[in-house]
Formats: sequence, structure tokens, C-alpha cells
Amino acid sequence: MRLLAITSLALAAGVKAVVVPAVAPAGHSHSMIPVETVPLGKNVTINGVLTYVSLPQHKAFDPEVAILMLTDVFGLPSPDNLVLADQWAAAGFQTFAPDYLNGDALPMDGDVTTWIVNHGAAQTNPPLLAVISALKSRGIKHLAVTGYCFGGLYTIRLVQNNTIAVGTTAHPAFLTVPDDFDVIKAQSHVAIEINNAELDTGFTPALAVETDGVLGEGQYPPGYKRVQFDGVGHGFAVRANASDPVQVAAKQGAFDTSLAWIKAHLK
Ligand SMILES: *[C@@H]1O[C@H](CO)[C@@H](O)[C@H](O)[C@H]1NC(C)=O
Ligand SMILES: *[C@@H]1O[C@H](CO)[C@@H](O)[C@H](O)[C@H]1NC(C)=O
Ligand SMILES: *[C@@H]1O[C@H](CO)[C@@H](O)[C@H](O)[C@H]1NC(C)=O
Repeated sequence: MRLLAITSLALAAGVKAVVVPAVAPAGHSHSMIPVETVPLGKNVTINGVLTYVSLPQHKAFDPEVAILMLTDVFGLPSPDNLVLADQWAAAGFQTFAPDYLNGDALPMDGDVTTWIVNHGAAQTNPPLLAVISALKSRGIKHLAVTGYCFGGLYTIRLVQNNTIAVGTTAHPAFLTVPDDFDVIKAQSHVAIEINNAELDTGFTPALAVETDGVLGEGQYPPGYKRVQFDGVGHGFAVRANASDPVQVAAKQGAFDTSLAWIKAHLK
């Protein structure tokens, strides 16, 4: 009902809701992970769900805090996602990347428009919630979520319904602008940060500016920040061409921005 009310509010104001479209695999940044890279974490089953778990190496960590990393459409078969989870662990957090794609990650040459049909909320929420509830019952009290692309939509959902402590997302897809942010403003108390790409054809700079119009300039007291990375496209926070300094810097910049946000807002 609330969503309906907000949609009609937006309509009354003459704002057109835009569903952020999927970006085809060819439109993503390319993987440059050397084939010999060995991820540091392990695949374990948590509450029936395959989950890649990466723990800080040689470092004590707070057992009541965890990072839930929501991958892009390429899921756990993509080494870039595992290496990214390892990077979160290296920053000092136990990190969990659940296979909320139900063993059906998009192949790098797959068709996202047919794939998404089997990856709606009905298919995605059960494994996601199974892992979240298992983590909470293990004594994890502060869950930070970092979501990329497809994971951006679920980061936004978890922020909307106050399931998590803090959220950060890069190049989110499949969400609706401005409606999904209107819902956050109306009912959330979770701080949210967005890293967007200048060349993203999905969550475009124009949609990012529209999002600022809802949450920016102090309109959202729990906390909102957006940082745009220029010269890079969709997927930049997950994959970078190691020979391209702009891509390398943007990927690291997105990570550092998200890490600082999580540290500042994790309660
Ligand atoms: C974890 O599972 C994924 C998906 O089956 C697989 O691609 C990946 O290689 C596995 N990683 C490890 C470290 O076992
Ligand atoms: C919160 O959102 C998540 C992600 O969509 C969903 O799985 C979960 O059921 C929601 N929780 C509540 C309490 O509505
Ligand atoms: C990676 O970047 C280098 C330097 O800009 C470029 O020559 C190369 O074509 C790029 N590789 C890919 C796969 O885009």
C-alpha cells in the first residue's frame, strides 16, 4: 500500500518511474583476474545455501560483525566475486557471499533478459533470508551489506525493510527510480551509499542525480552518500582491466568508499 501511495505521489508530481535495466554481459567491465588466482575463502553450506565464506587471515575480527556480499549476476562461479569477498575479509571482516542465484549464475556469454525471469524475488529471497537468519542466530548482530549490480536491488530491499545495519551498493540494477528510494526515505533508518559509473547504461548519471533528489542534501537523516566514478562503466567495482589505471583506480576507489561508509555507520 505504501509503495502504491508513493508511486501515485511520484505520478502526481509528474516524475516518471524508471526501472533500471539489466546491462548485457558484453556491457560489463571485463575480468582480468589471472587464471592461476586461488581464492582464500571456502565454500560452505549455511542453512542449506552454498555460501562462499572468507575470513580475515592472521587477524582477529569482531565475531558480532559481518559483511554480506551480494554478488552480481555472474555469482560465485566468477573468480572476480570471490577475490572481491577476499578483499572484504582482508579489510578485517568475516565475509559471506551466498549463492542467492540458486546455482544458476549467468554465464559470461549468457542472456540476462531470459535469465532474470527465473531470478525474481520469489526465487531469490528464500536463500538470501536463509543465510541472513543463520548468521543472526550465530550471534552476528551487525550485518553490513555490499551489493553489486543485481545485488544492488537486494541491498536496497534490505535497507528498505531495516533488516541490516548499513548498506552500500555499486552500479545497482533492476531497481525502480525514484520509487525504491522514496520507500527508503519513508520507512528506513539504515544508511545507504551508492557508487555509480559515468558510463553505466543502466543506473545512468541522470538516474543517480534523480536519486540525490530524493535522499541527498540532508533529506535522509540516517545517511546517504553517492560517489560517481568517471571513465568507467557498469561492473567497474567488481572487474577492472589491470592495464588500465582509470579502471584500477575506480575499482579501488569504490571499495575504499564502501569500506569507509560501513565503518562509519556500522552500529
Ligand atoms: C565455490 O563454488 C563456486 C560455484 O559452484 C565455484 O565456481 C567456486 O570455484 C567454488 N570456490 C571454491 C573456493 O571452492
Ligand atoms: C526484507 O527484504 C528482503 C529482501 O527483499 C526480503 O527477503 C525479506 O523478506 C524482507 N523482510 C521483511 C521483514 O519484510
Ligand atoms: C586493457 O587495457 C589496456 C590498456 O588500456 C588495453 O590495451 C587492453 O585492450 C584492455 N583489455 C581489455 C580486455 O579491454
